[in-house]
Amino acid sequence: MKGKFITFEGIDGAGKSSHVDWLAEQLRARGLTVQVTREPGGTALGEKLRELLLNQTMHLETETLLMFAARREHLAQVVEPALNRGEWVVCDRFSDATYAYQGGGRGLERSKLQMLEHWVHEHLQPNLTLLFDLPLEVARERIAVASRTLDRFEQERADFHERVRHAYLERAHAQPERIRVIDANNTLDNIREQLEEIIVTICL
Ligand code: TYD
Repeated sequence: MKGKFITFEGIDGAGKSSHVDWLAEQLRARGLTVQVTREPGGTALGEKLRELLLNQTMHLETETLLMFAARREHLAQVVEPALNRGEWVVCDRFSDATYAYQGGGRGLERSKLQMLEHWVHEHLQPNLTLLFDLPLEVARERIAVASRTLDRFEQERADFHERVRHAYLERAHAQPERIRVIDANNTLDNIREQLEEIIVTICL
């Protein structure tokens, strides 16, 4: 039996990463074998590409191609083998991020994104995507208090992040079965409750 593929998405500062490991533990407690991974990254090559993508200025199409190159490697080395072994994969970001950031945020044509998505993972979509949504000001406040060096995406202006958020919500609206919106402007406990309700439905 094939495992399930769960992805986490949201604008920078939405707080999704702190819930990735927690969700994996919840699934393990139900007896499932779970791999936790992330994009861009998840493989030795992918992590090198991540370093470049987060820090090096480049053309928008180069950025998009590198995101999908890292993804191809990640799928081949990690995600597909795990799913074929019947394991579950919990991944911090996937192709919805490319649609939201490179498409919504930077304005790359949708047709090019569709072409790459078709090439790289025509037959694979996440079984479930958890979209952490919250107002931009709250997300930016969270990034500001983190007081660390900001990457290329985090340094973008507010209107960029507003477009990213809008693109994510549009995708969630178009694919409500797969993409579930989490109200991330909430306490940790409240967010865990929201996640628990959703896990129950996918574990059935
Ligand atoms: P993120 O997942 O937020 O990691 P951290 O929590 O360590 O900051 O950072 C990855 C960044 O990469 C994020 O700003 C979104 C961006 N990104 C894209 O622009 N396109 C993509 O396809 C992916 C996967 C990520």
